[in-house]
Amino acid sequence: MAKQEKYIVGLDVGTSKICVVVGEIKQDNNLDVIGIGTAPSAGLKKGVVVSLDKTIEGIKKAMEEAELMAGIEISKVFIGISGNHIKGFNSRGVIGISAKQQEIFKDDIERVIAAAHPAGMPADSEIIHVLPQEFKVDDHEGIMDPTGMTGRRLEVNAHIVTGSSTAIQNILTCVHKTGLSLAGKVLVQKANAEASLTDDEKEMGVALVDIGAGTTNIAIFERGSLWHTAVIPVGGYNFTNDIAIGLRTPIPDAEKIKKKYGCVLGSYLDEEAMFEAGGVGSPKKRLVPQTMLVEILQPRAEELFSLVHQEIKKAGYEGVINAGLVITGGGSLLTGVTEIAELEFDRPARLGKPMGIGGLIDVVSSPAFSTAIGLIKFGMSAEVMPGQDQEAGVKKVFRRIKNFFLADYI
Ligand SMILES: Nc1ncnc2c1ncn2[C@@H]1O[C@H](COP(=O)(O)OP(=O)(O)OP(=O)(O)O)[C@@H](O)[C@H]1O
Ligand SMILES: [Mg+2]
Repeated sequence: MAKQEKYIVGLDVGTSKICVVVGEIKQDNNLDVIGIGTAPSAGLKKGVVVSLDKTIEGIKKAMEEAELMAGIEISKVFIGISGNHIKGFNSRGVIGISAKQQEIFKDDIERVIAAAHPAGMPADSEIIHVLPQEFKVDDHEGIMDPTGMTGRRLEVNAHIVTGSSTAIQNILTCVHKTGLSLAGKVLVQKANAEASLTDDEKEMGVALVDIGAGTTNIAIFERGSLWHTAVIPVGGYNFTNDIAIGLRTPIPDAEKIKKKYGCVLGSYLDEEAMFEAGGVGSPKKRLVPQTMLVEILQPRAEELFSLVHQEIKKAGYEGVINAGLVITGGGSLLTGVTEIAELEFDRPARLGKPMGIGGLIDVVSSPAFSTAIGLIKFGMSAEVMPGQDQEAGVKKVFRRIKNFFLADYI
C-alpha cells in the first residue's frame, strides 16, 4: 500500500461512533475524501475515554476500513478533542513596538500572541489552541493582520482553549497504541466549524450546535473568529432513553425507532400514522401512533434548546448571533429540530452538513460526519498545535503561534 504523503487523516472518536476519514490533497489544492471507516464506540462516556481497550479496538476497526477503501497505509492522524473538561476563555496580550522600528513585523505578532497566553495554568490543564480574534494597533481596533502597519502599541484578543491533561493523554494513548502518530489535536467545535459554517456566517455571528450522542457542543463565531465554547451534557442518548422509558421498549429498539420515525414536531406527522414497537422482555410487537413519539421527544428537544439558549445568554453572546444557528451532529437528524431551535431563539436555523470537499461526498454528506470532515479540512490549513512532538521551548511555541496566525489571516 502507498504510504501516507499527500493525504490528511481525521480521527473523530465520538461517544457513539468512531470515524476515520482520509482526504487527498489534489494538485489544485482541493481536498477529496477517498476513504472512510466507521466503528461503534464503546469506550467513551460524554466525549471522554473511559476504556482504553475498547477505544483502541474501535479505532483499529475504523482505521482498517478506511485504509482499505483509500488504498493507503495510515500513519498520522488529526484527532478531535471533546468533553466537558474543555474550557474556553478570551484573553488579551499587549506589547510595545520600539520607537526606532515602528513598523509591525511577524515577530511582533508572535510576541503579542505569546503575551496573550494565560500566566499560570491550573494543575492537570493544558492549552489546546490559542486562536487570535482581532488586533489593535494604537487606537485602531478590529484589525485582522497588522503586518507592515506602523504603531507603538500592539494588542491582540485571543480565544484560549484548554483541556484536562489526563483526558487528552488518554485519547492520545489510544492513538499511539493503535500504532499511529499524531499530526495534531483539534477542538471538535473548531473542526466542526471548518466543515459546516460559511465564511459569511462566521463573520456575521453564528451559534454552531453539535448534538452528539452524549453531549451537545456549542461554539459562537463572530467577526470570523471563535469567541465562546461550551458543552451541555445532553445528547442523542437522552432522546433514545426517553423513548425506551416512554414506550417501555429495549434501548436498541428505541434507538432504531428514533432513527426511523424520530420527530420533534407534530406538524410533520400524519395523525393516523403508526409504527411497531417491541416490549421489554417480550417479543410481541405493539402498534404505537407516531404522535406519541412526538409527545415523548418534543419536550426533550425544547429542553435542550432552552439549555443552549441559557448558556449563550449567560455567556453574553445572544446579541451577536445575527446569522442564527447551524445545527449538526447525528442528533440533529430528528425531524423538526431546526424549527424547535427557531422557535426558541427567534432566529433562523439550518442543518450543518459538511461542505467544501470532493470525492466520496455522498457517503459523508450527513451532519454526523461534520467533525471528521472538519478535522481533515482543519489539518489542511495546518491551524493546529502539534503538541505531542518532542521539540520544546519558546522558539517552538513561537513557531506554532505563527502557524495559527498564518492560517487564520493570510
Ligand atoms: N437518523 C437519525 N435520527 C435521529 N438521531 C440520529 C440519527 N442518526 C444518528 N442519530 C443519533 O445521533 C447520535 C450520534 O451522533 P454523532 O455521531 O454526532 O455522535 P458522536 O460524535 O458519536 O458523540 P459525541 O459527539 O456526543 O461524543 C446518537 O445519539 C444517534 O442516535
Ligand atoms: Mg461528535
